[in-house]
Amino acid sequence: MKKSVHIIGVSGLYHDSAAALLRDGQIVCAAQEERFTRKKHDSQMPIHAIEYCLRQAGLDAAELDYVVFYEKPLLKFDRLIETYLSYAPKGFRQFLMAIPLWLKQKLHIPRELDKALGGDFKGKFVFTEHHESHAASAFFPSPYSQAAVVTLDGVGEWTTASIGTGINNKIEIKYELHFPHSLGLLYSAFTYFTGFKVNSGEYKLMGLAPYGKPVYKDLILTNLLDLKNDGSFRLNMDYFTYCHTDKMVGRKFEQLFGWPRRTPESPITQREMDLAASIQKVTEEIMMRIVNFAHNKTGMRNLVLAGGVALNCVGNGRILRRGPFENIWIQPAAGDAGGALGAALFVHYQLLNNPRAADEHNDIQSASYLGPAYSNDEIRMFLDSVGAKYRFFENENELLEEIVCDIEQGNVIGWFHGKMEFGPRALGSRSIIADARNEQMQSRMNRKIKFRESFRPFAPSILRDYASEYFKLPPDKDSPYMLLVADVQESKRIKPDGEQEKMSGFEMLKAKRSVVPGITHVDYSARVQTVDAERHGRYHRLLERFRQKTGCPLVINTSFNIRGEPIVCSPENAFNCFRSTNMDVLVLENFVLYKDEQPQMRQIEIDEYLAKFELD
Ligand SMILES: [Fe+2]
Repeated sequence: MKKSVHIIGVSGLYHDSAAALLRDGQIVCAAQEERFTRKKHDSQMPIHAIEYCLRQAGLDAAELDYVVFYEKPLLKFDRLIETYLSYAPKGFRQFLMAIPLWLKQKLHIPRELDKALGGDFKGKFVFTEHHESHAASAFFPSPYSQAAVVTLDGVGEWTTASIGTGINNKIEIKYELHFPHSLGLLYSAFTYFTGFKVNSGEYKLMGLAPYGKPVYKDLILTNLLDLKNDGSFRLNMDYFTYCHTDKMVGRKFEQLFGWPRRTPESPITQREMDLAASIQKVTEEIMMRIVNFAHNKTGMRNLVLAGGVALNCVGNGRILRRGPFENIWIQPAAGDAGGALGAALFVHYQLLNNPRAADEHNDIQSASYLGPAYSNDEIRMFLDSVGAKYRFFENENELLEEIVCDIEQGNVIGWFHGKMEFGPRALGSRSIIADARNEQMQSRMNRKIKFRESFRPFAPSILRDYASEYFKLPPDKDSPYMLLVADVQESKRIKPDGEQEKMSGFEMLKAKRSVVPGITHVDYSARVQTVDAERHGRYHRLLERFRQKTGCPLVINTSFNIRGEPIVCSPENAFNCFRSTNMDVLVLENFVLYKDEQPQMRQIEIDEYLAKFELD
């Protein structure tokens, strides 16, 4: 019998470390390091994720054929040195601070990987370029045999965005934009200036945009960048300081807008909302120009996307609706975690030249359910060890019946089933779910369950067959990875009364905008996940049961965590999160726990739990 080839891809040492394992080109598993260490966006060498992948595949490190790192450290180091030299003597302190980590760790990746593998690895080390990894993560798992491949990112080595093609088992990158000119870094500069955390608050900025008006769009386009028709641009580096300081922007940027950076956690004002709306519009404009150019140059019908900016679901929705491509597929782990998967796939197809047969009806991402799962036996053992009170449902129908009633009665459910999602979104495996028809739910969930900012919207999971009834999504398109924003259909909207029409800013939250207010953003948009029987199994059956009972084919789906906490991985993580928040019900596979039946947590224990996670 032919021996299987095992490839592990690794990303790390910048942010969102992860590992992904392939057996003969099949994705066996993939997971982010943060889920194991409970440190959000953990950037350390992902030893726990690697260990999990080996365990899941039943392998020793000695049985691995290739270990692939998702970028080329020497090229990246070259960028660091060149950037320093072109700004010197500015940035000397920054440079001095960066060097020790490079000398100690980042320039010795094989040694570090060897350590992570317990010194047993005997195969080959491979390094792919950062953008090759993103491009491979976008194309190879996609359902297309041919596609235009676009990556939109912060920065890897030098490249910040790229356009190319994917044909069968090969990708070819044809156009690149280089550091310091970067769409990801431009967006992050505004994330920083509006008082959010870079590399994690970008979502908040996107969620804030619908409260504002894009009044600074022209100011940005006139002063901050020189945008060409093909979507390439040059940033005016007089305004940005990320090349030589640890801040994204400085005084000149503040002078342009006429006020300083918002202090983190201070009140958000109309100007932050307007800035968010403005940079969102600029970002969409750049995305549209880039994909139009990609379409002109490649003539492809399909588009695949990856890189951190591909998590901009509003921009993605616009590309789907107004862009030139018939179909788009976006890597669910579009940020650097997905680079681990892309790097491994790059070796399998591009370097080892293995054939690839794309199935136009199916990607190979498996709903992104690629992480750890736990058996009922394991869960029972854990629950008994902590003295939890639970009910066990042998029969799935009875379990679903119970949970559907709980949702309908206004309870908030922690839903833990099957393999954990790979990528930043919870997709029905580690989710918190609730009734989207309930007017109070958005504010209750933000304040009492997620402990996060009240303006942040929630997303729906909807049965695929009903998606275009509720949202302006083309009937033949789905969104299983929650990466597209679409507007709520007119027929489901509730017209605001005279008073409500005059509302602005966060006041707008008070208006009931649709028959599903829990997931309708203030501009009537929603970040949609479509749920289908083939991919989503029990989660689909739950939604179908909910629809049969209530007539409503959707629920609120938010990630199972609190602010600053990585999504829960194990039953223990889920139980702790459930206990420390105002969640009402916890479902762990076939076990159901009710909050009011559990021993009460003392306030000090709750505070301790909340304090564990740094605010993001
Ligand atoms: Fe990246």
